[in-house]
Amino acid sequence: MKHDSSVAALADSLRADVHRMSPGERLPSSRSLVERHRVSPVTVSRALAVLAAEGLVVTRPGSGAFAAGRRPAAAAAEPADLGWQAVALGDRSVDAAGITWLLTPPPEGVIALSGGYLHPTLQPARPLAAAMARAARRPDAWEMPRLGGMPELRAWFARTVGGAVSPADVVITSGGQQSLTTVLRALLPPDAPLLVESPTYLGVLAVARASGLHPVPVPVDADGVRPDLLAEAFAMTGARALYSQPTFHNPTGTVLSGERRGQVLEVARAAGAFVIEDDFARHLGIASPPPPLIAQDADGRVVHIASLTKATAPSLRVAAVIARGPVAERIRATQLVEEFFPARPLQEALLELVSSPGWPRHLSAVRAALRSRRDALLTAFARDLPELRVNRPDGSLHVWARLPGGVDDTALAEAALRAGVLVSAGRPFFPAEAPAPYLRISYGTAASEPELAEGVRRLSSVLHS
Ligand SMILES: Cc1ncc(COP(=O)(O)O)c(C=O)c1O
Repeated sequence: MKHDSSVAALADSLRADVHRMSPGERLPSSRSLVERHRVSPVTVSRALAVLAAEGLVVTRPGSGAFAAGRRPAAAAAEPADLGWQAVALGDRSVDAAGITWLLTPPPEGVIALSGGYLHPTLQPARPLAAAMARAARRPDAWEMPRLGGMPELRAWFARTVGGAVSPADVVITSGGQQSLTTVLRALLPPDAPLLVESPTYLGVLAVARASGLHPVPVPVDADGVRPDLLAEAFAMTGARALYSQPTFHNPTGTVLSGERRGQVLEVARAAGAFVIEDDFARHLGIASPPPPLIAQDADGRVVHIASLTKATAPSLRVAAVIARGPVAERIRATQLVEEFFPARPLQEALLELVSSPGWPRHLSAVRAALRSRRDALLTAFARDLPELRVNRPDGSLHVWARLPGGVDDTALAEAALRAGVLVSAGRPFFPAEAPAPYLRISYGTAASEPELAEGVRRLSSVLHS
């Protein structure tokens, strides 16, 4: 983030210079820009790339950068009248507020105890760079991949999931979020109900609503979704699908108990419904997770989504959807229509990464770091915020903390941000009314354990003030 802001600052300064120059005039050399602005050569080249993309400079390899001959016209003084668009777009809207908030990095100096991805120091940056370089060197790297995904990658996902799954059941997709869009669109017509755990991942609520679906809450407790209420919700709504995270549920961290796994499948069977299993955090287990639900599925009831961004990096946007029977055909067709296929270099890079000897080493290092961070966070809570009821998750990135009655979680999260710590209010994770105020506090997103402790100290001073 620091790097991005120094690129932007240098681009601003050079932009002002270029506006004073004559067309064709040469900009100072990269070396003198490095010295004059005390920035790195990478910052200089990225700032020049910004100006080149704006059409303000032309770079000639070996000769330098020059003020462009014809500059882009300045924006018209009067803004265009775009009012007609409101009428043309009608009353439909897509609410991306929750997702935007989740994906926006915290301001400088704010401790991130929120977010969906590992802190960069926990991401496998070097193995990823090596995997990407190897993938990009292949002569056919930019050719079309096989439809459905690279066969070796499909085989890897099938083997990882286990059970009766075969590579033919796997379709490679562009990340977990895109998989959710594709699967929901493939399974359900607009206006249909979709049963979801309550609370649940706010991104699925956003996708479902944007697709015209109606999320219907089914409560979770310490053992996962409640089968008795699930049966009632199916009966009441006639829903044909449940979206579930049986393993390291976001936001609560719970794991669906062994007994309930069979019960959930049985309830879905009785309702003639699918179970969409979002297995987003399998590789982030502090304790070993149980096998996925799809491994005990006998009749093609489970549609499984396996994403790897959580264990790697947010931009490695490759995942898999695994399904059997006509639904698999529908999902494959939907994906083809929506996006053709995920970029081949990314598929190749993921395959390189997971088949390298460094992959198991990376996973065990991440799990050890997460264990230590979770414990550090819980210790800080016990010391500074004993009045919060906090769970002890066995995997993923977050703890789920119940606030004392009467505390407004949204106002608290806003005040915490002003005090220099970013946490997630619980309310957006509930499809309907929240039964109590909660915070989701992430231990995988901070830079270090001392930073976690400092974040809790800041939160405590806000709550106690
Ligand atoms: C439960 C859950 N599913 C899916 C996703 C989507 O992740 P990605 O698209 O990076 O795979 C997220 C991201 O936060 C998540 O928490």
